[in-house]
Amino acid sequence: MYRIESKIDTQSQEYKQNFESMKKVADEYKENLSKVQEGGPKKYRELQKSRGKFLVRERLEKLFDRNTPFLELSPLAAYDIYNNEAPSAGLVTGIGVIHGREVLVVANDASVKGGTYFPMTIKKHIRAQQVAMENRLPCIYLVDSGGIFLPLQAGTFPDKEHFGRIFYNQARLSAMGIPQISIVMGSCTAGGAYVPAMSDETVIVRKQGTIFIGGPPLVKAATNVDVTDEELGGADVHCRISGVSDYYALNDEHALEIARNIVETLDPAQKFQLDMAEPEDPYYDPEEIYGIVPRDTRKPYNFKEVIARLVDGSRFQEFKELYGQTLVCGFARIMGYPVGILANNGVLFSESSLKGAHFVTLCSMRKIPLMFFQNITGFIVGKQYEHGGIAKDGAKLVHAVANADVPKFTVIVGASNGAGNYAMCGRAYAPRLLLMWPNARICVMGGEQAANVLVTVKAHRLKQQGKEMTDEEKQKMMNPILEKYEHEASPYYSTARLWDDGILNPLKTREALALGISMSLNAPIPDYKVGIFRM
Ligand code: COA
Repeated sequence: MYRIESKIDTQSQEYKQNFESMKKVADEYKENLSKVQEGGPKKYRELQKSRGKFLVRERLEKLFDRNTPFLELSPLAAYDIYNNEAPSAGLVTGIGVIHGREVLVVANDASVKGGTYFPMTIKKHIRAQQVAMENRLPCIYLVDSGGIFLPLQAGTFPDKEHFGRIFYNQARLSAMGIPQISIVMGSCTAGGAYVPAMSDETVIVRKQGTIFIGGPPLVKAATNVDVTDEELGGADVHCRISGVSDYYALNDEHALEIARNIVETLDPAQKFQLDMAEPEDPYYDPEEIYGIVPRDTRKPYNFKEVIARLVDGSRFQEFKELYGQTLVCGFARIMGYPVGILANNGVLFSESSLKGAHFVTLCSMRKIPLMFFQNITGFIVGKQYEHGGIAKDGAKLVHAVANADVPKFTVIVGASNGAGNYAMCGRAYAPRLLLMWPNARICVMGGEQAANVLVTVKAHRLKQQGKEMTDEEKQKMMNPILEKYEHEASPYYSTARLWDDGILNPLKTREALALGISMSLNAPIPDYKVGIFRM
C-alpha cells in the first residue's frame, strides 16, 4: 500500500489556530471527565471507605489484569441532567481484560444516591448489555445498588427498555452462552435482587452484600415482623440457607479475586481470525490532527490528512480515488487489523453514495471491519439531483450499511446532520461503538438551516393570508431556534443521553478503534446478506 503524502504546513497560522482550538476543547473534555470520575459527593465516598469498601473505580482496577486497557463506555452519561447529581449516571461500564479475556463490566457507584437507577442509568446498563450481546463478551456485574431512584419511577420502571429489560437481557445472554457473573458488594434490593438471582454464578460479600426482594421496612409493613438486613438476605443466608449465591467472600478484595477465578474457568474465547500484520505507528505524528481539523466545523478539509495520522505506516489503498470524491473510501490497517475506511470530504452526491455502497459491499464480503468518520451535513439537494435519483442512490448506501454485519465503528469528527448521519452509520445503524470528538456537532440540520426552514414556512403561510413578515420579526423568530440548536448539538448533550458511547480525544482514536476491533472479534462475522437495491 502507498503512504499518503501529507501537504500540511505545520508552521502556518491556520494550523496553529486550529491546534489551539482543538486542544482547548480536548482539555475541557479531560477536565470534565476527571471531575465525573471522582464519583458521588465526598461524604458518600468517605462513608463507603469507612465501611471497608473500595470505590467503584478501585474495584475495577483490582478486577482487571494489571497494565491492561479499560475501554470505558459513556463516562459522561447524565452530564448536566438531574442537577448533576448522578455523575456517570452512577454506573461504570466498559470492556476490560481478566486473565487475558475481554469482559464487559457493569459496576454500580454506591456513592451516587446509593447506586440507584436514574433513567439514564438504565439506558447505560442496557446499552452495555447490548455491547456484550453483539460482541459476545462475558458480563461481570459489580452490584451495589438501592434499585430504582424512586422519585423518577415513571421514567425507569414500566416500559420495554426500562428496569425489567436488564433481567430479560441476562436471561437472553445466558441462553446465548454468554456468561453472567454477579459480585454482590452492597445492596441488591427489590428488582435489583434479580441481577444476582439471574446470573450463572454469584459471589456475595460477608456483612456487606444483601439480596432481598423486599427490604426490612417493607417486611415490617407487610408482615409486622422486625428483621435485620443480614438476617433477611446477607451472605450467610444466601450461601448457607437459600442458595441464591454460590461463593462467600470475606471482603471486596476477596470477592474480586473470586470473580477473576470464575473468569479463569470459562471456556476460552474463540476469536474470529482476521488477516493480521505487525502493528506499526502512523508515519505522520497523530498530534498534528489538532492542527488539521478546522476550528469552524463548516469549513471543508481533506480528511485523508487525518487518515494519514490514524493508520499503520500512514498507508492507504484508496478505492475509486478519482470518482465520487466527496466520500473517501479505502483499505488500511489499524494496529495490524485490516480495516475499510469511509470518510466524508463534503456532501454526499449520487456518485459518492454509489461508491460507498460498492465499498461497503466489498468489505462485507471480505469480512473486513468498517470505520466510518462522519463529517456530513447531508445529501445534496436540488432539482437536478432529485431528477438524477439522489434518493435511490443514497438509499443504496443506507441499505448496504444497514445490512453490513461486519463490525462497524463510527467516529463523529465534525458535523453529523440529516440522512448523512444514517448513511454514515449513525447510532440507528448499529455500529459496535459510536464515539464523538469533542469538537463534533450532532443535530438534524444546522441551526441556521432549521431556523430558515421554520421562518420560510411561516412567511409562506402569512403570505397566503396577505400578510408580510418584517426582517425584525424573522430574526426574532430565528434567535431562540438558533440558541436551542447550538445547545443541543453539543457532544456533551449527546453523550449525556447515550446517543453515543462516549466523547473521544482525537489522539486516542487509533487506540479506541483497535480495542473496539479486538472486542468485536469475540463474535463470529456472518456472511453478507443484502436486500433489494433500487436500481
Ligand atoms: N431512590 C431514591 N433515592 C435513594 C434511594 C432510592 N431507592 N435509595 C437511597 N437513596 C438516596 C438517599 O435518599 C440518600 O440521598 P441524599 O444524599 O440526598 O440524602 C442517598 O441515596 C444515600 O442513601 P443512604 O441511605 O444515606 O446511603 P446508604 O449507603 O447508607 O444506603 C441503600 C444505601 C441503597 C442501601 C439505602 O439507601 C436503601 O436501602 N435504600 C432504599 C432501597 C429500596 O428500597 N429500593 C427499592 C427500589 S425498587
